Amino acid sequence: MEYFDYIGGSFVAEKVKVEDLAKQYGTPLYVYSRTCLEDTFKAFDSSFGDTPHLVCYAVKANSNIAVLNVMAKLGAGFDIVSGGELARVIKAGGDPAKVVYSGVAKSKDEIIYALEKGIKCFNVESEAEMQRISEIATSLKKEAPVSIRVNPDVDAGTHPYISTGLKKNKFGVTIDKAYDLYLAASKMPGIAIKGIDCHIGSQLTTITPFTDAIDRVLCLVDRLEKVGINFSHIDVGGGLGVVYDDETPPSIKEYVEAIKDKLVHKKLTIICEPGRAMVANAGVLVAKCEYLKEGEISNFCIVDTAMNDLIRPSLYEAWMKIEEVNKNLDRPQKEYDVVGPICETGDFLGKGRKLKVASGDYLVVRGAGAYGFAMSSNYNSRPRAAEILVSADKTYVIRARETIDDLYALETLV
Ligand code: LLP
Repeated sequence: MEYFDYIGGSFVAEKVKVEDLAKQYGTPLYVYSRTCLEDTFKAFDSSFGDTPHLVCYAVKANSNIAVLNVMAKLGAGFDIVSGGELARVIKAGGDPAKVVYSGVAKSKDEIIYALEKGIKCFNVESEAEMQRISEIATSLKKEAPVSIRVNPDVDAGTHPYISTGLKKNKFGVTIDKAYDLYLAASKMPGIAIKGIDCHIGSQLTTITPFTDAIDRVLCLVDRLEKVGINFSHIDVGGGLGVVYDDETPPSIKEYVEAIKDKLVHKKLTIICEPGRAMVANAGVLVAKCEYLKEGEISNFCIVDTAMNDLIRPSLYEAWMKIEEVNKNLDRPQKEYDVVGPICETGDFLGKGRKLKVASGDYLVVRGAGAYGFAMSSNYNSRPRAAEILVSADKTYVIRARETIDDLYALETLV
């Protein structure tokens, strides 16, 4: 099934015309397909078959509680990186016992909160963090389940800002240091070693970096088993890429099969933490063209949607597909830089795009379900977009549009 498609030249989300949504709820507007979310989760889950596993959706990609609720109802686990994300998971009906907690800077309060809620595992990223977790768990008379996030020094071959598995990155612990830290942790009070973890980057479009990373982690597992340190799970992180343009990432099934193949001889539950692959193509961002402007060098299609709504093009020079919501309109086709209202030259959604557009027309940015709304801000005092979830012919407002009052609701005059 195509979750987003054109019917008679009009862009639809499942069975709902996106132009109608834009007129009713205004723009910028995020629109998600519930069926796509569900099918994608099921594709991950079912690809593991009988192999013991837990698919922990990486909350950071799209943390709307309705999205989390859809996943929770299917039995998903969650990968979180803050106390705020844990609170969202709980609010959405997720099970804390299926939560793994990554991140380099877990605060004391966040660790206490996670221990009190009984999460599945802390993915520990440094010796100092292990020490802190041990002290807190001991003082609370609890045992903290931990794994160490190993930095396997594998090049994910992706944008430098979203590459995490190299020695020069701030994430995880190098293989050699991880060996020593496991030995030390095995003697620390309040610590229960459960697993081993790695995550090498995001938007990977080939299998080899994943399998190379697993090979390296498995060498460490073997060394540790020889000295009596055993694991019940291995967490292979997230990172599976999606199609924005002409990328050819492995399918979910191919990705899961490759992981299973590597781990077939190990009696380990496999945890994975997909974010982007779960939600990117389950969402679009709808924008309205305010003005067309001819420049000396480029034509500009100036939309009401900006880098504060979707920062990926500006921050990572990410290419995201932009199309007309209504293909039936009679407009001359021209090449445009699609730019927003923010006072920065870096404020663009796409450059050099061939579009048939006039003022008042709607455009849609595809693949915006991941790291779209979640990374949005109020820069230039712009209220954040509304979010809509479509399920067949039903529409749910899962986040109301922010109001101007919301912008300074927490501020006071001197
Ligand atoms: N696990 C950990 C520990 C992570 O740091 C991440 C993403 C994931 C899982 C999920 O990775 P995914 O499956 O989504 O690739 N804002 C960037 C992406 C940042 C990814 C950060 N970490 C973007 O828009 O491209």
